[in-house]
Amino acid sequence: MNIFKNHTFLEKHSVVLLVAIIVTVLIGGIVEIVPLFRQETVIEPVEGVRPYTPLELAGYNIYLREGCYNCHSQQIRPLRDEVERYGHYSLAAESMYDHPFQWGSKRTGPDLARVGGKYSDEWHVAHLMNPRDVVPESIMPSYRFLMERGAKLHDLSAHLKALRAVGVPYTDEMVAMAEKDAVIQATGAYRADTGGLESRYGDDVKARDFDGQPHLVSEMDALVAYLQVLGTMVDFESAEVHEALAVHTGVAPSEAAVDEAVSEQMSTEDVTEDVTGNVTETGAQE
Ligand code: HEC
Repeated sequence: MNIFKNHTFLEKHSVVLLVAIIVTVLIGGIVEIVPLFRQETVIEPVEGVRPYTPLELAGYNIYLREGCYNCHSQQIRPLRDEVERYGHYSLAAESMYDHPFQWGSKRTGPDLARVGGKYSDEWHVAHLMNPRDVVPESIMPSYRFLMERGAKLHDLSAHLKALRAVGVPYTDEMVAMAEKDAVIQATGAYRADTGGLESRYGDDVKARDFDGQPHLVSEMDALVAYLQVLGTMVDFESAEVHEALAVHTGVAPSEAAVDEAVSEQMSTEDVTEDVTGNVTETGAQE
């Protein structure tokens, strides 16, 4: 057959063979790599994950500027010791709007992926002002100056736009309202109308005076707002029940079944044990 004759030709001419090999490998490479450029093919969307509010984004920018990532990671690995210490292991979707992501590779201090809600705002402020006031043996530097510096809000619209260019779904309205939203979030529902902010980013946005200085939207406000949202977007309580039910039946449970199991879990101790029992069992089988 003709094709085999051509093959003889290839084998006798090493340069042609080399070119043919390169072309074949390139085609294989392109087929495998190109789809990964589209984020939605690699990251499973998870309910609850939303882009940062402008104030949280300002805090994220301060986190980068101060190099907090040199001592703190934001990635809980799926290992038992990590999950017991920090909570549910991190999902890819949880950092899909971080550009750049803050997974980090060094833990001089603890992982911060789920620090949101772990402490009060007052604790964070006291800790950042002087870590040794709350953790005597701490070697973390103090960031007292954040209290006095006004957060940079005027360029937040530009930050939102830049992030939109790399795929974060900020709307025109969010971009236009960025600075105002940041001020409102740092003022809180007692003194400002947070309706617009909540309609844009969701009802669970935490809007309050984070640093206890009502007259100033400080860098402390922004950083604490950011720390308090870390790891809080995904509702792992209902997700855990989801997983346990799926293990039981082998199929993904319906929304109604999950709701029922969550409410049962809240009302009876037995179900909690049952659900956790199942989870542990799967762990042991792996
Ligand atoms: C030189 C290393 C270092 C740097 C830089 C650093 N930290 Fe820390 N951090 C630590 C250490 C060590 C601890 C544990 C002791 C403590 O709580 O102070 C810690 C603890 C924390 C905690 C409490 C975590 C928990 O679960 O108890 C938070 C929140 C935190 N750091 C935030 C920050 C932020 C925000 C920055 C940047 C502005 C930062 N850290 C910079 C070392 C560092």
